[in-house]
Amino acid sequence: MVIDDSMTELVVAEKALEGSYRIMLEQNGRHALDYLKKLTKLPSLVLLDIDMPAINGFEIFSQMRSVDKLREIPVIFVSGANDTATELEAYQLGAVDYIVKPFVSEILKRKVNLHIGILEDKRKLASVNSTLQDYNEQLQDYNDELQTKASVATQSVQQLEYFLVGMIGDLITKKDGYTGIHCKRVAKYMEIILRQMMKDGTARYPIKDVEMILMCAQLFDMGKIGVPDYILEKVGKYTQEEFEIMKTHTVLAADSIQKYAYLLPNSPLVSYSYQMARSHHEQWCGRGYPDGLAGENIPQLARMIAICDVYDALVSKRTYKNAMPHEQAYAIINQASGVQFDPHVVAAFNKVHVDFYDTSQIEMQ
Ligand SMILES: [Fe+2]
Repeated sequence: MVIDDSMTELVVAEKALEGSYRIMLEQNGRHALDYLKKLTKLPSLVLLDIDMPAINGFEIFSQMRSVDKLREIPVIFVSGANDTATELEAYQLGAVDYIVKPFVSEILKRKVNLHIGILEDKRKLASVNSTLQDYNEQLQDYNDELQTKASVATQSVQQLEYFLVGMIGDLITKKDGYTGIHCKRVAKYMEIILRQMMKDGTARYPIKDVEMILMCAQLFDMGKIGVPDYILEKVGKYTQEEFEIMKTHTVLAADSIQKYAYLLPNSPLVSYSYQMARSHHEQWCGRGYPDGLAGENIPQLARMIAICDVYDALVSKRTYKNAMPHEQAYAIINQASGVQFDPHVVAAFNKVHVDFYDTSQIEMQ
């Protein structure tokens, strides 16, 4: 749109721009303003004369800026005044350009082309930005979807682990009720001592592995499934031969884990359950079984569960013996510190032995 009170200038502008643009010409400033307010399809650019009767270009510009739908239309001021102050004022108000009259067709055309080009670039950029935003939102949706799938997959794996451990635990209990309850209680003691040692910094395991370690702890004596009933149920002291058979429960469990370990390469679940099942009867002094490991050569989880195992055996009632008082079990474990048991684990036990006692009083099913 060209707004100029001079018909001559309007004609020059029309001739310069026709063929390239659809042009609206307005000679009256107020009429132009009213017309703009009513338009639904607004002009891309307004060429606005400053010196006009009744209402000057600056005033029209100011009113355009107060109307939402006209605010963003770029305005090029045109003026017969070739003075820097007026030109500067035009730019300060927010004009995109300033053209001195009388119009020179070629200059007018080039300046209009320039600003229409800038507008088109802006529109393209806005469109690219909008597309990028759409892509970004789609990417975010995809990411959310992947995370949900990963979470569901992790949940399924955990469910499978709980299922298998629960099933094996149940089989242990069916085979030997005492051993089944013993395994569950030992896992409870294990939780107490593991958390204490991690708190003290004497045991370092990823926090996310704690639940898995405690799950594996429930299987530490599962090799007893392979021990004949007459030995498991025997009341009284084992013969040497019977004891040798009983000792195999460590290796039986370890072999079963090892046999299928290839299905879960590098799995902490395999390694934790193997360590506890195979080495929980090793002794700090090296006189344990099945491998006669000593000191820190014994996996730490096995050194920890060894104390839990012995404590529970001491304070539990069996058909052939009464439950030993907690204080006596505490004394026996301390006497064996540095001999049968890792002194660091005994130190942790001493900090939490009251929790051991409380756990021993809970009825397990
Ligand atoms: Fe055992």
